[in-house]
Amino acid sequence: MAVTTQQLTQWKQQGRAIVALTAWDYAIAQLLDLAAVDLILVGDSLAVVLGYETTLPITLDEMIHHAKAVRRGVKNALVVVDLPFLTYQESISQAMHSAGRVLKETGAQAVKLEGGYPAMVETITRLVQSGIPVMGHVGLTPQSIHQLGLRQQGKTQEAGERIFNEAIALEQAGVFAIVLEHIPTRLALQITQKLRIPTIGIGAGSSCDGQVLVTSDILGLSEKQPPFAKVYTNLRETITNAVQDYAVEVRERQFPK
Ligand code: KIV
Ligand code: NA
Repeated sequence: MAVTTQQLTQWKQQGRAIVALTAWDYAIAQLLDLAAVDLILVGDSLAVVLGYETTLPITLDEMIHHAKAVRRGVKNALVVVDLPFLTYQESISQAMHSAGRVLKETGAQAVKLEGGYPAMVETITRLVQSGIPVMGHVGLTPQSIHQLGLRQQGKTQEAGERIFNEAIALEQAGVFAIVLEHIPTRLALQITQKLRIPTIGIGAGSSCDGQVLVTSDILGLSEKQPPFAKVYTNLRETITNAVQDYAVEVRERQFPK
């Protein structure tokens, strides 16, 4: 059954954990969907496979290109697409234009925007009122890497309260779910208990309503993983071994037979 945004809130009420992962192409998206992943995020972590150091250079056209491929591989999961840096922060109309392009051109069901500060809450309110499903994202927001670094956020009382209040404001703006990235477990628990909509944690402890990780991190395909990622298999090693075996066989004229 195709996953809907409303379904996620029902799952929260039922205490059923939400499983989310990122995908950037058709092949991986299809495998995630067949493995019954609930939510597939076309993250701007796409930077990893395009060889960018940060998510900042990613363009809307690049996101759309990859989101279309992902969407073609997915039958059931809810597909959410990140709006990249400076394609929604400038004005409500810029955000509307970018989100509209993503939904109309890719067939994805929702977009994700970073930040819970007042101007972003206003933007998200307008998107939701216009019929665009939005997922929020607070805590560590990687598009602000040059201000925040990649450190855990919300460690002091004051910073924790700010993130807590941002999450509440985003729920009021109408987001259907919210990513909590790299914040203390206790803060994530408080937000999760306070909100009616589900929290999807990444580096935010086990009490969130769901979890998301970058797929290349869990597969051991990324050059380096964040400290909170768990590596379930080592694809860099698997691929390197396979390629080396092939190279040897070609050079020694063992393949093809
Ligand atoms: O871009 C991304 O992959 C993300 C998730 C890790 C939340 O935003
Ligand atoms: Na992202």
